Amino acid sequence: MTPLKLATACFATALSALILSSVANAGAPFSMRDGYRSAFHIGAALDSRVFVNEDPVLSDIVTGQCSLIVAGNELKWESLHPAINRYDFSKADSFVNWGERNGMQVHGHVLVWHSQTPSSAFKDASGRNVSRDEMIARMQDHIRTVMGRYKGRIQTWDVVNEAFNDDGTLRDSPWSRIIGPDFIEIAFRTAREVDPSVMLVYNDYSWVNPAKRAGILAHIRQLLAKGVPIDALGIQGHWQLGYPSLEQVDATLWDLASTGLKILITELDIDVLPTAWDYTGADINVRFELQDSLNPYRETIPPAVLQQQADRYAALFTKFLEYKDYIHTVTFWGITDQDSWLNNFPVRGRTNYPMVYNRDNQPKPAYFSIMNVAPDPLVPPATATDPYVPIPLYRFHRTTNNSHFFTVTKAEFDALSADTSGTWVYEGPSHHVIGNHTQNSTPVYRLFNRVSGSHFYTASKDEMVGVLSNPSSIFNYEGIAFWVLAAPIPGAQPVYRFFAPPSGSHFFTINEQEKDVLRATVPSTQLSYDGVAWFAFP
Ligand code: XIL
Repeated sequence: MTPLKLATACFATALSALILSSVANAGAPFSMRDGYRSAFHIGAALDSRVFVNEDPVLSDIVTGQCSLIVAGNELKWESLHPAINRYDFSKADSFVNWGERNGMQVHGHVLVWHSQTPSSAFKDASGRNVSRDEMIARMQDHIRTVMGRYKGRIQTWDVVNEAFNDDGTLRDSPWSRIIGPDFIEIAFRTAREVDPSVMLVYNDYSWVNPAKRAGILAHIRQLLAKGVPIDALGIQGHWQLGYPSLEQVDATLWDLASTGLKILITELDIDVLPTAWDYTGADINVRFELQDSLNPYRETIPPAVLQQQADRYAALFTKFLEYKDYIHTVTFWGITDQDSWLNNFPVRGRTNYPMVYNRDNQPKPAYFSIMNVAPDPLVPPATATDPYVPIPLYRFHRTTNNSHFFTVTKAEFDALSADTSGTWVYEGPSHHVIGNHTQNSTPVYRLFNRVSGSHFYTASKDEMVGVLSNPSSIFNYEGIAFWVLAAPIPGAQPVYRFFAPPSGSHFFTINEQEKDVLRATVPSTQLSYDGVAWFAFP
């Protein structure tokens, strides 16, 4: 093995960066669904670009990250029941089909709501409100037709949405005006008749407001005492950086859990823009004028705000985990910042950043902070007990900045071996790692340093997520590079890790002697010893 040469540091040339990124191992990215698999579903609201246009990038995010989907608009009354005698299920069908094809739980949103329901639904031919009996018949026809169509294919349904005011009293809406307060009871009873096995949800915003929460819960308790089939309560979760407090969220989850019903976080997003006139609700009919002061991040968002949002998401997920026995799903209301409704609510035309994927479809610091508090290993422990398949880890010296690159991939090995510029020098197999996910093998994650063009390898999930969740991070996640052992077994040896400050890269060796020589002869300003990285085979 060539001894490590320490030349003056110089950053990567564009050419060498190109060689590597073009052959980079784009392994499976890690997944929120897996990280929270023991706790609750991770869901997302989709728009029709995903299930009608089959946008491949958004589809990959959802199928990679989620186990539950909801349609942002396409199952609402105005979308699938545009006139009282006409249903149009074309988009709704695409949505449900897409969910089934991709093995998702499908959440139905929503049957009975005062918004996004055409006013004609409540009126007769002469434009007057219909009678109570006629309105009940229309509501029941809608519930029976829509739920019936997807029976057995939609597992959870928002039956009634937003029926209460902020002070906890029943909202004055066409539903309550024409039918009376028992429209809620009739809706749930009808839904249960259609599908006895579906989870029936009452959904609302501003549960954190004590008066609203107390009013709704008193009402719900009365209905439950009468045997009305309500299975779960949906907390929309349209929240801000500083509101509600974790104490308010905790009090809300506690009170809702104490009903004995399941809880769904149905529409989570974290608005980062200034609140317009202190409005914290989510009534889609409330609107404010656009002003510059309300739209401060038109071009770009400061890293400090991204960090605040990341911390906020992590704190909320940590809180959700405390209530994981009650929570069925945590569903994001959108996928990327670009598609969030908060770009237009409650002020039209702002540039908002509420989601955990950015406008380039890349995971944001918030994504990694959520992964950082995830309870489950990113990669489930292997169930296989097959013997280890040792494979060589090829070591290349990159002469332009005196860093090292390690790969198990033939394509990368071939590409770098074919380099004639003198940038890449093959130094032989570094050691043998494991090629299969078996017994106690654990993944080594590979990250790409966009500044130096070098790669970082770590077997520590926490270290990787820590690096990626920094808003100023210069790393991209590339996937699982290979497998190693986290602890020694007979025949395995420690692999030592060094950090080279001049190139900002790491060096690994299983050779005890090489490690000792480097430690004894190279000043730590050039190469500092980090310790044991993992265990593998010589
Ligand atoms: C929003 C959609 O995301 C927007 O596309 C639409 O223009 C308005 O409605 N609470 C709800 C959701 O229950 O249905 C709303 O969805 C957001 C607030």
